[in-house]
Amino acid sequence: MSSPVSLCRDNDIGVIRIHYPPVNALGQGVREGLQRCLQEALADDQIKAVIVTGEGKTFPAGADIREFGKPPQPPALPDVINEYEASSKPVIAAIHGTALGGGLEVALGCDYRVALDSARLGLPEVKLGLLPGAGGTQRLPRLVGIEAALDMIVGGNPVKAAAAKALGLVDEVVSGDLLEGALAFARNVIDEKAPLRRLCDLPIPGDSGADVFARFEQSIARRQRGFKAPFHCIKAVQAAAELPFEQGLQRERELFVELLLSPESAAQRHVFFAEREVAKVPGLDKDTPRRDINTVAVIGAGTMGGGIAMNFANAGIPVKMLEVKQEALEKGLAVIRRNYENTAKKGRITAEQVEQRMALIQPTLSYDELGDVDLVIEAVFENMDVKKAVFSELDRVCKPGAILATNTSTLDVDRIASFTQRPQDVMGMHFFSPANVMKLLENVRGEKTADDVIATVMDLSRRIGKVGVLVGVCHGFVGNRMLHKRQAEAIKLVNEGASPQQVDKVLFDLGFPMGPFAMSDLAGMDVGYRIREELRKEDPANAPARNWTDELVEAGRLGQKTQAGVFDYKEGDRTPVPSPDVDGIIEQYRSDNGITPRAISDQEILERCMYVMVNEGAKILEEGIAARPLDVDVIWIYGYGFPVYRGGVMFWADQVGVKKIHDKISEIYQQTGDPVWKPSARLAELAEQGKGFNR
Ligand code: 3HC
Ligand code: NAI
Repeated sequence: MSSPVSLCRDNDIGVIRIHYPPVNALGQGVREGLQRCLQEALADDQIKAVIVTGEGKTFPAGADIREFGKPPQPPALPDVINEYEASSKPVIAAIHGTALGGGLEVALGCDYRVALDSARLGLPEVKLGLLPGAGGTQRLPRLVGIEAALDMIVGGNPVKAAAAKALGLVDEVVSGDLLEGALAFARNVIDEKAPLRRLCDLPIPGDSGADVFARFEQSIARRQRGFKAPFHCIKAVQAAAELPFEQGLQRERELFVELLLSPESAAQRHVFFAEREVAKVPGLDKDTPRRDINTVAVIGAGTMGGGIAMNFANAGIPVKMLEVKQEALEKGLAVIRRNYENTAKKGRITAEQVEQRMALIQPTLSYDELGDVDLVIEAVFENMDVKKAVFSELDRVCKPGAILATNTSTLDVDRIASFTQRPQDVMGMHFFSPANVMKLLENVRGEKTADDVIATVMDLSRRIGKVGVLVGVCHGFVGNRMLHKRQAEAIKLVNEGASPQQVDKVLFDLGFPMGPFAMSDLAGMDVGYRIREELRKEDPANAPARNWTDELVEAGRLGQKTQAGVFDYKEGDRTPVPSPDVDGIIEQYRSDNGITPRAISDQEILERCMYVMVNEGAKILEEGIAARPLDVDVIWIYGYGFPVYRGGVMFWADQVGVKKIHDKISEIYQQTGDPVWKPSARLAELAEQGKGFNR
């Protein structure tokens, strides 16, 4: 097999090229090739300087993440980089695309760095639960100083070439032909007999003060709660400041290995690949033709419609927004404008962009104006009769081939499709609130949805900055179906003796941004109440029994919007405060229902709230509503703030142990007979085989 790395000569300059698509990741073959080509260049007397560059779209974008967790194959990346740094001839990195992670560390092992103006450079290892483990934490501070290095290593965000130049990370920015620029730079180095510039020999510039590390740690403590890697990154940079280079490298290695073996990094790497994998729908030919989507319409300018329209305007796609009344249209537009202006105030977009985006949203009251759009997303009231009226109209006016999508969160997408003569063109696009912010999009495939409609909507999700996950039709789809089970269990735990704040704390401590009750206060308690009341009217035999949360709603406690829900809220403050009034209502409920409260342990809360979701997730997989466990994981990460360092509900279950979870679920089912606790057949099968969902 030919090597992915080659050496050629341009007069007296050796050029080492890496060719390992798609991103020139530093797999074993690349490391070996880099080492061999350097040795050849050093042995060639005619070569006076060496350039390292990537072929295709990028300089190496990092170590090969697929190799992590497998036995290491020599040569190790830090050793290869040390050899580059020790080179007796000047080495210049010529960077285009994205020099990330190990890729940037290779560049830091060189004497000089030349970058194309469009290049981006960064150390994103922290996002995989790691730290730069090939000298990055030791060399970068010697080039850019402690504070800038902390920003790049702990933040993990890449910088553009111009910013890298300003930091001193890049020596020259080139526009046009990178290799030509790098050759000219190398020629200059040779002609001027410029000295080697080994970063290991440089002192760290600037004085950041002795407390810089403690300050930095404090500044990230809240945002990075539960993550391990950011704090290890700080420790590694501190080693650069306090130890000689060699010892610093050793400390970096220890911290890196610790992270590499941690469950947090395993989870974060799982999420990296899962996020990319969800776009590849099993059974859907990747060459399925796509329909063109150039113009879009949104029906309804309420909470969801407005946010959905913003996504398209943000992506530069014109969007018509239809309402029944002028007043509702104006209200919706005003909310959108306010949102954009707030973003502009924070400096994230310019005033000009506000106007450009507003101009892309065209309000209308007439269906007749929707004849030319390629996609319509309906976001009107959650009521089947209203949906029927809307889809009948869309069927009448929309051109053949237009995709008709519904944002319904609970209604049957197949029934909605049946209101049209073209069910093959209908599917669900379930956005999450706030729709302009939340990254998750559950794309719901109907019984008759055509493959090209699915492929088009999955592609479009990415185009508008969403992570689209394909799911099937069922009540609540994947995310809300699991969430509702957790919520019901949380309520039962309070019935039996736990306090709402105890339940919330257990899930907050697991890493959720908030507990189930703070979440229902944020969403509005009346939403669930209305659904339950509807069910009680329509299907009393199967409707949920009344519980203490119904009484809160009837007492006017709707959540944050009334400053009172399960918790109290002070004006302008979202912090939940336990409420004596609510305690009273709960006590009354218990006594009315003959319940003697008991002490409930945190462990029981954790198990019941989480295991019930695992069981439901397994049922969802069994029914084919989600194709793979990783689809469920991505939904929980991007739709509900599930802690990334736990990898998603199903990945978390694997880490706890599927057998252990199955046995507990079986035990609870035997005790309660509650159908929600009937172990899923998939779960039982995996437990029996000693397997996990993802492994
Ligand atoms: N290793 C292995 N595969 C990688 C990879 C890596 N470092 N980076 C990307 N890939 C793969 C992706 O899985 C994807 O594979 P697929 O086509 O089979 O799904 C393919 O390359 C293309 O990736 P994207 O779909 O993400 O392509 P984009 O063009 O959108 O983005 C990118 C390109 C910006 C390079 C992005 O892939 C990225 O951010 N990659 C990760 C970079 C990173 O984290 N580097 C650090 C690695 S850890 C490290 O270096 C440790 C060291 O310090 C010792
Ligand atoms: P909303 O009540 O805020 O907005 C609905 C809008 O639709 C109103 O402005 C109303 O005037 C308009 N409307 C009603 N009938 C119409 C018709 N025939 N033609 C045109 N416009 C009409 O409701 P919201 O919250 O935006 O929900 C809309 C849909 O999105 C529902 O199906 C809901 O289940 C779903 N959804 C809601 C989420 C949320 O968190 N609010 C999350 C995900 C989905």
